[in-house]
Amino acid sequence: MDRPRVLSGIQPTADSFHLGNYLGAVRQYVALQDTHEAFYFIADLHALTVAPKADELRRRSRVAAAQLFGAGLDPEKAAVFAQSHIREHSELAWILICQTGMGEAGRMTQFKDKSAKYGESSASVGLFTYPILQAADILIYQADQVPVGVDQKQHLELSRDLAQRFNSRYGQTFKVPNPYILKEVEKIGDLQDPTAKMSKTSSSPQGILDVLEDPASLRKKVMRAVTDTGSEVVADEENKPGVTNLLRIHSALSGVSVPDLEARFAGQGYGAFKKEVAEVIVEAFAPIRERTEKLLANEAELDRLLAAGAARARVVAQETMVKVRDRIGFIPTP
Ligand code: TYM
Repeated sequence: MDRPRVLSGIQPTADSFHLGNYLGAVRQYVALQDTHEAFYFIADLHALTVAPKADELRRRSRVAAAQLFGAGLDPEKAAVFAQSHIREHSELAWILICQTGMGEAGRMTQFKDKSAKYGESSASVGLFTYPILQAADILIYQADQVPVGVDQKQHLELSRDLAQRFNSRYGQTFKVPNPYILKEVEKIGDLQDPTAKMSKTSSSPQGILDVLEDPASLRKKVMRAVTDTGSEVVADEENKPGVTNLLRIHSALSGVSVPDLEARFAGQGYGAFKKEVAEVIVEAFAPIRERTEKLLANEAELDRLLAAGAARARVVAQETMVKVRDRIGFIPTP
């Protein structure tokens, strides 16, 4: 039997992925490439919603791709590509935009948050239709599973709704995708404001741990992470969100369960605990950083890998679009 299909995308809007991206998404991409037919892309079309400079977008896109390979994606197993290389994403997005209600799009909380941040009038129409492009990304590959952090859950709901709506209007065309969200790592918190998610748009860089950051800086940030009153290393979401966040991070990276960590650090205080958290993170990131830098030093090879990924993705995307164009009533493409 064919393997189930997995698909996900990540935006090239920063100079590095951060720990939230890595634990919430990228690690799952790597794990699933062994059991699924895997498609992962750099969401450079989505990145346009924040109007990056051309050179910066190109550089960050390559850095993002290199990190995906650096984190363990194997070009033999997974198709890794740039979203903009597959023109069909944009085409399907338009078709799905025409299936989406204004109210429905307006309910997307990420749009509401971001437009509030940038100011309603300076938010682009692209930011508004962003989740519909995301639905196109997913549906065009007939994905079964979509590994993401919990912040993407509502966008996944929209993708499911649009798949079902299209199928009922035009006949069975799209698979209805499922989010793949791991509870323990669905929302990694900011180190300075642990109830908020770690995010590239967060107000202070002190709260973010970048995959490509140097070890000294990582250690410093972890040691300065906000902890809570008291001195016990115990998980307590409500009263100790800072410590709980660090426990989750340690556990996800070391494989030691949270109760075992609590037992190990009983009576030791926050200092010793944070020191170890920092080491666990430094150790996890070091090989990724090394492989990423190596790949970035050979841009031609990196571009070749992306071209090979796009060639595989294009076959699937084009097959879906032939069906879609027919279903909605376009004259066959000459
Ligand atoms: P992006 O680029 O913001 O984030 C990439 C992935 O990282 C996850 N993530 C987190 N997980 C846990 N804790 C955090 N603090 C944290 N911060 C980020 C995100 O949930 C995401 O999985 N719209 C998407 C990109 C996209 C996409 C797609 C995803 C475009 N098309 C199709 C899936 C399928 C985004 O902006 O992710």
